Amino acid sequence: SCPSLLAISGSLRAESYSTALLRSLADAAAGKAAITVLTLGDVPMYNQDHDTDTPPEGVAKLRAAIAAADGLIVASPEYNHGIPGVLKNALDWASRPVGASTLTGKTALTMTSSPGALGGVRAHAPLNESLSSIGVRVVLRPQAVVGSVHQKMTDGRLTHPDTLAFLLAGLDELLLDIARPGAADREAD
Ligand code: FNR
Repeated sequence: SCPSLLAISGSLRAESYSTALLRSLADAAAGKAAITVLTLGDVPMYNQDHDTDTPPEGVAKLRAAIAAADGLIVASPEYNHGIPGVLKNALDWASRPVGASTLTGKTALTMTSSPGALGGVRAHAPLNESLSSIGVRVVLRPQAVVGSVHQKMTDGRLTHPDTLAFLLAGLDELLLDIARPGAADREAD
């Protein structure tokens, strides 16, 4: 059976390009990976005072979905040259309990997009650095960036063939890493 991937969108916007890209990739990857798209609307603000409490339902669901996945795709907008608070907040929740994060040891393909020409590229470094700090291996090549994203979509789906091929090349790199011997039970280096 093909690997199951969790695709996390960093945008809560109903018409989000980030979410639309993930849905498009899920469709295009049929037969090679089963991709489940998750949005973060039910993850509350993190507060370390409640770190050891029973987690809120949205957090438990997020952690369990990460644990069950063979790999991750994270699609983020660029907000003020960084990643949205919504996404950072979810990564902070998922990074806990310290030393037992379900993220640790996973591999992630990270993607950014923007209607702007630079495709949100400035959000890659902070996103990748936070993921790395939690022990997530990040696919560094290709660097999945989609500029002028609004011109590449039709009816909420990515319809620009070159861009779809580019993102599928990123997906292949993720799948290669997942298929490496021992990938399922190794910790990040
Ligand atoms: C933006 N946007 C934006 N775009 C960009 O290329 N660089 C940036 O630094 C920012 N900063 C920024 C801050 C805030 C608060 C918002 C709301 C937006 C524009 C952004 O790329 C655009 O709204 C995207 O459509 C957001 O992604 P989703 O929601 O379509 O996935």
